[in-house]
Amino acid sequence: MPIASTSQLLGYSPRVTIIGVGKVGSTLAQQIGEKNLADVVLLDEVEGLPQGLALDLMEAKGISLHSRQFIGTTNYADTAGSDIVVITAGQPRKPGMSRDELLKTNAKIVVETAKNAIAYSPNAILIVVTNPLDVMTYLAWQATQLPTQRVIGMAGVLDSARFQAFVAMELGVSIADVRAIVLGSHGDLMVPLPRYSTVNGIPITELIDAATIDRLVERTRKGGAEIVELMQTGSAYFAPAASTYLMVEAILLNQSRLVPVAAYLQGEYGLHDIFIGVPTLIGASGVEQILELKLTNAEISALHLAAQQVKQNIEQARSLLAN
Ligand code: NAI
Ligand code: 2OP
Repeated sequence: MPIASTSQLLGYSPRVTIIGVGKVGSTLAQQIGEKNLADVVLLDEVEGLPQGLALDLMEAKGISLHSRQFIGTTNYADTAGSDIVVITAGQPRKPGMSRDELLKTNAKIVVETAKNAIAYSPNAILIVVTNPLDVMTYLAWQATQLPTQRVIGMAGVLDSARFQAFVAMELGVSIADVRAIVLGSHGDLMVPLPRYSTVNGIPITELIDAATIDRLVERTRKGGAEIVELMQTGSAYFAPAASTYLMVEAILLNQSRLVPVAAYLQGEYGLHDIFIGVPTLIGASGVEQILELKLTNAEISALHLAAQQVKQNIEQARSLLAN
């Protein structure tokens, strides 16, 4: 006779659907299960892949000992009633593929998958991971028409974690004492904020000389590319999955985490009708508050430059989708 898990006995287990279970999606599924956070539905367009991964994860439960379920599927009906939908579906750039082709391909994937998933889980919070992140988050919001606070792009947590790691390595201090924050878009124009990054409360500008900070900032901006260059066969996934996990946990456990995410702006920082990385409070209802930090003229200009590029890319994606 099957014996139910505690959450099943209590009658409720949160449910997270992950659309696109490649490197980032499958690593995220494993983390959610191992931390006993939620049941996970793994969905991919490749028949057999999500089913195989789900079975593999179910078999690992005997060792990692948690009570969560994994369902692998290619059918959106199986995702119904999800509390959170994470979109990590996308294609990497292939040899000979132009940037426009990639933009169009991923835009189509994100629009379709977001619409399909939200049709079955209309109350879900949507977390977008697919690149180019800020553009894809905007398109997913438009496609689903969800309230803006329930659509969130993951990038700032990752970029801040990278900056945090580089500061800790540079100073030789425990990473537990380093806090770092990166705003703006997920790309070369992101805006790391050294003034607001600290080692146990001490701004790093008091501890590291300006030239070294510039070098760490530059390394953060190129953090994704550095890993692609080393791996050659794909992009980073451990830190991206861990960053997405942080957001999923903050929502399901209503933690009110103060983290940078791509959120919809309506005048904050002088920006309108755009998703871009800003400090937010994340909890049970998604983006619960956007914090407006005091920025210097240089920092605000950098944020506006990033926003300008995101807006251009949104327009480009829209016209590519229309043709
Ligand atoms: P991957 O190639 O390992 O996995 C992508 C998965 O999406 C594949 O399993 C593929 O079959 C699936 N897929 C493609 N089209 C689909 C569709 N229409 N429906 C369902 N599934 C579909 O890629 P990886 O490394 O997992 O990265 C995923 C995405 O996340 C990429 O766009 C990548 O650039 C982005 N990314 C974003 C980060 C961020 O900070 N926002 C960090 C890391 C990755
Ligand atoms: C990263 O930053 C590719 O966006 C991905 O690793």
